[in-house]
Amino acid sequence: MDKPTYYITTPIYYPSDKLHIGHSYTTVAADAMARYKRLRGYDVMFLTGTDEHGQKIERVAKEAGVSPKEFVDGIVDWIKVLWNDMDITYDKFIRTTDDDHKETVQKIFKRLYDQGDIYKSIYEGLYCTPCEAFFTEHQLVDGMCPDCGRDVEDVKEESYFFKLSKYQDDLIKHIEENPDFIQPKSRKNEMLNNFLRPGLEDLCVSRTSFDWGIPVEFDKGHVVYVWIDALSNYITALGYLSEDDEKFRRYWPADVHLVGKEIIRFHTIIWPALLMALDIPLPKQIFGHGWLVIDGGKMSKSVGNVVDPKILIDRYGSDAIRYFLLREVAFGQDGNFSNENLINRINSDLANDFGNLVSRSVTMVEKYFEGTLPEDQEANEFDEGVQKLIEEAIKNAEDHMEKLLFNEALNDIWTIVRRLNKYIDETTPWILAKDEANNKILANVLYTLVEGIRIVTVMIEPFMPQTPAKVWEQIGVKEGELTSWDSIKKWGSMPRTLSVKRGEIIFPRIDLKKELAQLEKDASKAKKKVKTKEEPKLEEITIDEFFKSELKIGEVLECEPVPKTDKLLVSKIKVGNEVRQIVSGIAEYYTPEEFVGKKVVVVTNLKPVKLRGILSEGMVLCASDDEGNLVAVGPLEDIKDGSMVK
Ligand code: MSP
Repeated sequence: MDKPTYYITTPIYYPSDKLHIGHSYTTVAADAMARYKRLRGYDVMFLTGTDEHGQKIERVAKEAGVSPKEFVDGIVDWIKVLWNDMDITYDKFIRTTDDDHKETVQKIFKRLYDQGDIYKSIYEGLYCTPCEAFFTEHQLVDGMCPDCGRDVEDVKEESYFFKLSKYQDDLIKHIEENPDFIQPKSRKNEMLNNFLRPGLEDLCVSRTSFDWGIPVEFDKGHVVYVWIDALSNYITALGYLSEDDEKFRRYWPADVHLVGKEIIRFHTIIWPALLMALDIPLPKQIFGHGWLVIDGGKMSKSVGNVVDPKILIDRYGSDAIRYFLLREVAFGQDGNFSNENLINRINSDLANDFGNLVSRSVTMVEKYFEGTLPEDQEANEFDEGVQKLIEEAIKNAEDHMEKLLFNEALNDIWTIVRRLNKYIDETTPWILAKDEANNKILANVLYTLVEGIRIVTVMIEPFMPQTPAKVWEQIGVKEGELTSWDSIKKWGSMPRTLSVKRGEIIFPRIDLKKELAQLEKDASKAKKKVKTKEEPKLEEITIDEFFKSELKIGEVLECEPVPKTDKLLVSKIKVGNEVRQIVSGIAEYYTPEEFVGKKVVVVTNLKPVKLRGILSEGMVLCASDDEGNLVAVGPLEDIKDGSMVK
């Protein structure tokens, strides 16, 4: 029998900049769902990609002095590496600059024009380039874009229009009759009350004032409006209107489009209207999730508060980051991101609850039974309760996954983890182990723990795909039957005489204080990196001008931090016959102990200044690179302090 299909998509990302942890959030959620459905036996199609056309990309490429295609190519490569590092198992990565996508968009545009759903007129109104969206005066908030709060531009140009208004009633009807079409529910009401019921206007679907887009085939001065181009990706990726449309026939309509809340409007109004015009069934669901925010504000490059997922993956591994993203935030609502929350979650849920459970259980099987449990086992009074709880937790997790409530599903799984930890306290294996007469009871306790760990491990695979292999190795399970979702529904699938082998700690505990300090240091290095890149080229000077600076070798005699700042050190530096007090911004790179004894180059004829109230009589020369590193500059071989540098 054919497997049931499941088609899930993320939005296609603007490659105008590198992606941040907020973008990873959508993609990790989609990946967890795709993996879960595969585990449940579905034939899954998981689509992601990049939205590469439009005025915004054209502008950033121009600023960078390269063609738009050259510009996006670099970022797309970077995105693909990021998804690989985050274990994202997309089945297709679409780029809107792909030839087959462009051809199909042209065909769609032409078809709609031929059937009278697209017509030519003049557009006069407002446009927000960062959002690539049209607005009317009354939609603005304080004269600014209602979505991103930035300036909008006046636009007047000849354009093609899509008869969006024609579909208004059918859209309202569809949304009302299909309560699951827009999720969560609050977004459905927002769309109906704020946009659909007040009335839709026809939509401008072509632009003439820039070139970076898909040309309208029959009117070359026009390029297709980027949202029409972008939304079509969900069907062009499946071969719609192409010679090979097997995937379109197999997977369409999509089961769910995952999108952030600010673009739900495009997906629940423009997209279904287009599909209605093309006489194609509508996707089953559009799920609008909330944002990952920092101190209540949206993460964005212009605010300068973006979190780089790569730094976090390198430090904690992709499983921990994936877990955090899906556990911490209720999908559908906004959730705050902070390094502290991340580390606390890793320590409490992963290191303490789960990691400890695995290592304690495996250690006990090794210690009390040399690694292999005996066949003869005897149940205890807590077993039934544990098994019942597991059965219920599985059902609840399945339910929550269907509703894309990832944090709830993870919570269900952790009820098992916590129950098993409690079971250890209840059965006190270390006391049972004192008397051989208890061996049968003890063996059963350890069996229950390992079987429970197996069930949890199968369930976490969609969220943390790297962890299972580490657990399987320790509890002697091979990828196959015992790792299937079906196998967890029957208690006792593992052989009673199971064998274990202790391995590395799966999630080591993190020292919160130290780690936060390190992350701050890395972030300030990254900021500096940006700064150094932007340094302007200085004017040429003559040798006489250069020799106006007096440079001498100095030896650092004493050094200590400047109070109330974590950037400055104050040193006593011997330069020939005198000792200078010099304040330097090097505290992030040298400890006072490291700096004492160094021979450095000092600018000795600088006018003394007070820094943080401390007199500084000169400057220590330093070199810094665009990676954010900094070193003090000194002589290659030893030479007396006070020596002139020239
Ligand atoms: N290109 C359009 C989508 C076209 S889909 C046919 C676009 N791109 S985007 O790169 O700006 O955003 C892509 C997705 O990332 C959106 O769903 C957006 O909500 C999501 N996120 C961007 N920042 C985010 C957070 N801080 N938190 C959660 N999601 C965020 O829009």
